[in-house]
Amino acid sequence: MEHTPRVLVIGSANTDMVVRVPRIPSPGETVVGGDLAVVPGGKGANQAVAAARLGASVSFVGRVGNDVFGDTARSSLSSHGIDVTSLRTDSGASSGVALIAVAPDGQNSIVVAPGANMCVTPEDIDDVFRTRSDFSAVLIQCEVPISTVTHTINRCREFDLPVILNPAPACELETEALFGVRCLTPNAGEACALLGTTLTDDFDPVRAAIALMDLGPDMVVITLGADGAYAATHRNAIRVPAYSVEAVDATGAGDCFTAALTIALLDQDGSCPTPSDEAGLASALRFAAAAAALSVTRIGAQPSMPQRAEVLAFLEQI
Ligand code: RIB
Repeated sequence: MEHTPRVLVIGSANTDMVVRVPRIPSPGETVVGGDLAVVPGGKGANQAVAAARLGASVSFVGRVGNDVFGDTARSSLSSHGIDVTSLRTDSGASSGVALIAVAPDGQNSIVVAPGANMCVTPEDIDDVFRTRSDFSAVLIQCEVPISTVTHTINRCREFDLPVILNPAPACELETEALFGVRCLTPNAGEACALLGTTLTDDFDPVRAAIALMDLGPDMVVITLGADGAYAATHRNAIRVPAYSVEAVDATGAGDCFTAALTIALLDQDGSCPTPSDEAGLASALRFAAAAAALSVTRIGAQPSMPQRAEVLAFLEQI
């Protein structure tokens, strides 16, 4: 990496309570699982840690409560060298917690108690931009209030900052907001939520990507789990397979993919361009898919995020 990208991540910081289970419980069912693992998570914090491990200088904006979970979330971010000056402690709210069941095939089911994450305000974003706007890219998800997401996109447009929006968990956004987005990274369900449709077995990523591109982003990448990803820009469209690995825990794989894609685009050019040629697009997607594949081979969200050298070594040996 010739230059160190400066990435601003705005989003949630949770504590994940993870239990391995023989199967994901059905409604009304009690399933006995293994030992409890308590690990740092939250889509925003996961993406921040992934970006830091992949070589970026990262600043994080979010909120935690004045409790032990908040302290742990903060120290996990700090331990990766992430700037937490804009991670506020909100004395009126509890820290975000996620209850996660992980099945033997690595698939999961997640319930989030968002707590302080839902207190991240547009003013928190304005406070950051009051002092600096020299970021290479801004990453945001939908585990903070939607009003804060749309405000961030609008402010980034003012500063001409590329925004990567991971619209997770599934949310409805004012469609005008997507005009300011450089890259949108939904999974199939999230793509349907943005389009106001229902996810069905015959989901077609090509049609969904075309419909999402019509809403204004420069680039749409639909993640398809074990089926890889489908990416569309105004010039190219490409499908990449997922790398086959022994899946242990898919928690955070989507976060890892989005962060790694951002870093790969910044590697190509510090202004985070939409790749103009198919080769550039394919190479960015391969880097993201490799990072995500590595992340599912380990348990936990933040602990599973790979280092840059690991991703490069993985790509070399396949
Ligand atoms: O994307 C995975 C994350 O979703 C978990 O870490 C959990 O905290 C929830 O936010």
